[in-house]
Amino acid sequence: MGNWLILGATSGIAIPLNRELAKRGNRLLLAARDQERLDIVKNDLHARFNVEVQTELFDALDHINHPAFIDRVEQEFGHLDGVVWAIGILGKQKQAEEDYKKAYAIIDANYLSAVSILEPIAEKFQKRKTGQIIAISSVAGDRGRATNYIYGSAKAGLSAYMQGLRQRLAKSGVHVMTVKPGVVDTKMIEGEETMPFIAKPDKVALEIMNGIQKRREVIYTPGLWRFIMISLRHIPEFLFKRLSF
Ligand SMILES: NC(=O)c1ccc[n+]([C@@H]2O[C@H](COP(=O)([O-])OP(=O)(O)OC[C@H]3O[C@@H](n4cnc5c(N)ncnc54)[C@H](OP(=O)(O)O)[C@@H]3O)[C@@H](O)[C@H]2O)c1
Repeated sequence: MGNWLILGATSGIAIPLNRELAKRGNRLLLAARDQERLDIVKNDLHARFNVEVQTELFDALDHINHPAFIDRVEQEFGHLDGVVWAIGILGKQKQAEEDYKKAYAIIDANYLSAVSILEPIAEKFQKRKTGQIIAISSVAGDRGRATNYIYGSAKAGLSAYMQGLRQRLAKSGVHVMTVKPGVVDTKMIEGEETMPFIAKPDKVALEIMNGIQKRREVIYTPGLWRFIMISLRHIPEFLFKRLSF
């Protein structure tokens, strides 16, 4: 049990993950950029689990104010025991190729913003020698593909960041877990072409919760994606170039 900050608490994957955390008696601070939706999620958690839930508005792109955000949150809510990063945008690869501002927006929401908020948190956890930092990256970061390499490269950056953070904080006993979902049925994939092996957010959330409890380092969810990505990573470049996906 502890105090958990959920960044992107109204996201399709975070909503069932909030429930898994609340079910186990954790106090939750839900952070997202839409107060109305935050209130809906908060009321639902109250009604189901009768746990303490608070909300904070949070804009991932507002880097400059992230350290102050964390200080304020800890003053008002208490020391954090865990944090989940569940923010991201998929964007449109074609548009990002043609317009750097669109590419930058994808890189910012998926990578730069995560670094900006997780660093001040890591600093505090390292000093206290306790805490759990969980970030939702993606299988898309495991190998760049023509159809989504701007998003994929931002997620690759996030995965490498988490890997380094894990090594840095290992000596302090802080748990750092990278989550690599495959395709999950949330608003992020609405309107996208048919995708393979679409998972339900509830299943993904439960697997993330298990990873938190078992203090896993990297999880693929659903687990099948670990094997899909091993195969994909091992296709030689000369063959990979001929594929179109
Ligand atoms: N769905 C998939 O297939 C899939 C696969 C692999 C990884 N993931 C990752 O899983 C995480 C959760 O995504 P999801 O599938 O649950 O999709 P989602 O429901 O679209 O969640 C993405 C969340 O990011 C938030 N967000 C975007 N920009 C933000 C900003 N500047 N400030 C604050 N919040 C911002 C969105 O807020 P608003 O609701 O206000 O727009 C939304 O709640 C993301 O990191 C995503 O990349 C998803």
